[in-house]
Amino acid sequence: MIERSATAPEGPLVDLLLRNRGALREKLNEHGALLFRGFNVSAPDDFEADMYALGLSPSREYPFGVSPRPNVEKSIHKSTEYADFLVIPPHTEMAYAHRRASWIAFWAKQPPEQYGETPLFDMSLVLERLPADLRERLTAMTMRYVRYIRNKKAMVTFERTIEETFETTDPARIEAICAELGIDCEWVDGKFLKATTELPAVMNHPVTGRASLNAQFINGFVLIEGIRRIRERYALPVRMFFEWYIRKQFKKPTVHYRSMPAEGPDFTPQEQETIANALYDSSTIFRWQQDDVLVIDNIRTAHGRLNVKGERSILTCLGDFYTT
Ligand SMILES: [Fe+2]
Repeated sequence: MIERSATAPEGPLVDLLLRNRGALREKLNEHGALLFRGFNVSAPDDFEADMYALGLSPSREYPFGVSPRPNVEKSIHKSTEYADFLVIPPHTEMAYAHRRASWIAFWAKQPPEQYGETPLFDMSLVLERLPADLRERLTAMTMRYVRYIRNKKAMVTFERTIEETFETTDPARIEAICAELGIDCEWVDGKFLKATTELPAVMNHPVTGRASLNAQFINGFVLIEGIRRIRERYALPVRMFFEWYIRKQFKKPTVHYRSMPAEGPDFTPQEQETIANALYDSSTIFRWQQDDVLVIDNIRTAHGRLNVKGERSILTCLGDFYTT
């Protein structure tokens, strides 16, 4: 964390970033994320300029992105508008896509009224902490990500519609985009687009060479486990209802999004628990403060979101796409 000292003048963050770009980029490689606290960031433009000052290129594109994330201006979006009462499980952004961002950043324009923390997970450490047999299995593993993308918005916001995902409803254009992005797509009952991608579960960092777990684990177990970790935040009947609701969703073959090993058996509950424990044992959780700017190396470091109550406005941008 880089915090403005109490005696320093209250200048914009961009000056500090420009002056120290090289050293800060080294720190980002070393630690996997940087949090800037106590600086002035007053508009989306400032936030975007901060990224350029670090030598990063924010992107207007978010190809095949899963998250409902309305655009604010230029490359700046609202952070994921995913059901507030749920926990967003650990993920590197767009781990399901062959073409994805190498970094993601957040700006706390208005910190959450209550909760809404963003845990950060050191995915190299997670891999090191796993028992050798599971680590070896994951290192050799290809993960499969299956999305059923809908025409219409669901009652509870989980992901973007077909139009929001592809910025068109023209089937031929969508099929062409999928072919270009290495997505296997199939129309189901005229209601869904089934989109499947397969990617390695472990990647080597292009700069540091360190191996990192780069899989998103999306299934009923993971979502329920995330809620159970913060069970004190829910009244028991409410938590029971959410658990029932999640189980019900994942029993549907067309649940909006799930992941699994591309070949061989699915993870056992014990393996899932081992992975979840390694993730949270390798995590840092902080509470957002006004104007916090968080820059995350999207290969080394995964993020999530705990449940949120009340108003909040966390803006995000991502960029410097690379193709796996
Ligand atoms: Fe995310």
